[in-house]
Amino acid sequence: MSPGALWIITMSGICVVIQSSEVHLRNMEHFITAVTHLEDLNPGISPLALVTSLNKIADRSVNVTLDFMGSSNNDDDIHCRNDSFITEQLNTNHNLSHFLKKLIHHFITDDHEERGVVLTPDGTTVALAPLLLGLQYGLQANKDSNQPHGFYLLSLAKYLATSLLQFENATPSERFSLDGCWDSVSAPMVFTLSGMPSLATDALVHGGMDGAILGKHLSVVNCSEVNLSTLLKSYYLRTVEELDHVSDTHLRGRYRRKNFKKITNSSLLQEKVAEALHSHPQKGNLVVESLIEKGIKEFMPRYMECPAIIPRCMWGAALPRVPLSPLSPPLPFLYIHHTEIPSKPCRNLQMCSKNMRAMQHFHQKGRGWFDIGYSFVVGSDGYIYEGRGWTSVGAHTKGRNTVGYGVAFIGNYTAHLPSQYDMELLHHHLVKCGVSNGFLQKNFTILGHRQVVATTKCPGDSLYSEITTWEHYKDTDPFR
Ligand SMILES: *[C@@H]1O[C@H](CO)[C@@H](O)[C@H](O)[C@H]1NC(C)=O
Ligand SMILES: *[C@@H]1O[C@H](CO)[C@@H](O)[C@H](O)[C@H]1NC(C)=O
Ligand SMILES: *[C@@H]1O[C@H](CO)[C@@H](O)[C@H](O)[C@H]1NC(C)=O
Ligand SMILES: *[C@@H]1O[C@H](CO)[C@@H](O)[C@H](O)[C@H]1NC(C)=O
Ligand SMILES: *[C@@H]1O[C@H](CO)[C@@H](O)[C@H](O)[C@H]1NC(C)=O
Ligand SMILES: *[C@@H]1O[C@H](CO)[C@@H](O)[C@H](O)[C@H]1NC(C)=O
Ligand SMILES: *[C@@H]1O[C@H](CO)[C@@H](O)[C@H](O)[C@H]1NC(C)=O
Ligand SMILES: *[C@@H]1O[C@H](CO)[C@@H](O)[C@H](O)[C@H]1NC(C)=O
Repeated sequence: MSPGALWIITMSGICVVIQSSEVHLRNMEHFITAVTHLEDLNPGISPLALVTSLNKIADRSVNVTLDFMGSSNNDDDIHCRNDSFITEQLNTNHNLSHFLKKLIHHFITDDHEERGVVLTPDGTTVALAPLLLGLQYGLQANKDSNQPHGFYLLSLAKYLATSLLQFENATPSERFSLDGCWDSVSAPMVFTLSGMPSLATDALVHGGMDGAILGKHLSVVNCSEVNLSTLLKSYYLRTVEELDHVSDTHLRGRYRRKNFKKITNSSLLQEKVAEALHSHPQKGNLVVESLIEKGIKEFMPRYMECPAIIPRCMWGAALPRVPLSPLSPPLPFLYIHHTEIPSKPCRNLQMCSKNMRAMQHFHQKGRGWFDIGYSFVVGSDGYIYEGRGWTSVGAHTKGRNTVGYGVAFIGNYTAHLPSQYDMELLHHHLVKCGVSNGFLQKNFTILGHRQVVATTKCPGDSLYSEITTWEHYKDTDPFR
């Protein structure tokens, strides 16, 4: 049998090979394919049975549902029955268990490799365990006809609680910024964290947010109309073009931060983290309580106010030619640019990444700069791409590079505007993120590139006229 083959034994005992060679790729498409096959092989399986099985296989603590949800002896409600029977069937299949366990079981190796995570098509990385746990809570709540206040946050809360205790003495910067890099975007196998593991990795938080959004949704739907693989497909695998045609972006992974923000706040999350610790011996301990409060205070701005930023390694950045000079934040300015060339907005990770690499190449080779000039670049795929970032001096706005960040929209915005969503990414989210994390001064000023450098029309007539309506915009450059 080929090395990558995934064998599934059907309930009638027949072996079926569902994939070969590529099956160990850690991407969302493969995970959803496996879920679809499980559904096909177990016709009539309830979504709760399926999710419970996956969680058991992945070695998550099996009893958490009962711990958190209280009694589930509501057998009158048969919407989501059939779980125990199916669970036994799936559990006895050694090879299938092995494959799924490898894909779902979350841990971090000594080499800082994060396992149990998959790459989604939009370029973000998601841990499957908190996602599945969130789905299970939602379906269980549905079955029990019981939706305790904020129950959908329990999955995320559980991971935050664990890390808070584990990394009690970490500084805020050690506690966060745990994104990482895949060995390959087209054939992802190994995900390596960019720093020491801390509060909770980005992938765990993404999985927890998705689990909360989807779990809350599942807690109130008609279970017999739920098809798990269909739900996951529509949540994770839609392109931006497809999303343009739906007005409801509520169940779309790409918009997870915006949607998650609508269903939580600090006090609720803090309450749930404390609840997740209830079985912990340190319950009621004041030290633990203040630890939780502090942790959530650090968590909220980082994830609730910051947009997801696609790190350099994801778009395939070359190294800077020399080490870049550090900035001294908080800075007082934000300069708005458009790229003009590339002139077309980019609509997916592949296209935006290609544009980023082309710009970096031009800036390094054509202009002789050390690196791509911009601090950040706004794609038209719902994401912001990291250029020189928050901590390095950029090359974007002549004479002002040490006092401000330069952010460019990909495209030519002389005659039209970026989408409303993309503009909000910048002037609501990135800006708030900068302020609340101490990179931008609270009273910072927004200026168009043309206000500082007289010879340019950048950021284009349309976009420039738009930013004159933004909060923090000033019509004169204080330096002139
Ligand atoms: C869900 O839909 C897929 C097709 O998208 C199908 O293969 C699968 O059997 C369905 N699952 C259930 C439980 O009906
Ligand atoms: C889970 O529950 C079973 C009984 O329902 C119990 O025997 C087992 O010890 C529990 N496991 C954990 C990890 O609490
Ligand atoms: C439980 O599973 C059996 C066998 O797969 C199926 O015939 C039955 O309809 C299922 N019951 C429910 C409530 O889904
Ligand atoms: C599981 O896979 C191994 C090889 O990896 C094979 O030897 C074994 O027969 C398989 N077991 C089943 C039950 O298919
Ligand atoms: C749930 O959906 C099924 C299948 O569409 C339908 O037969 C049933 O009446 C629905 N139940 C409720 C409570 O709406
Ligand atoms: C937090 O959210 C909960 C539940 O939605 C709500 O009851 C509470 O009032 C909110 N608290 C704040 C401070 O917004
Ligand atoms: C940008 O758009 C304007 C207006 O459509 C056009 O005049 C200009 O040539 C474009 N710039 C480039 C580099 O294509
Ligand atoms: C912004 O605030 C800083 C202190 O935080 C102050 O020094 C500076 O003058 C203020 N700038 C403007 C433009 O108000």
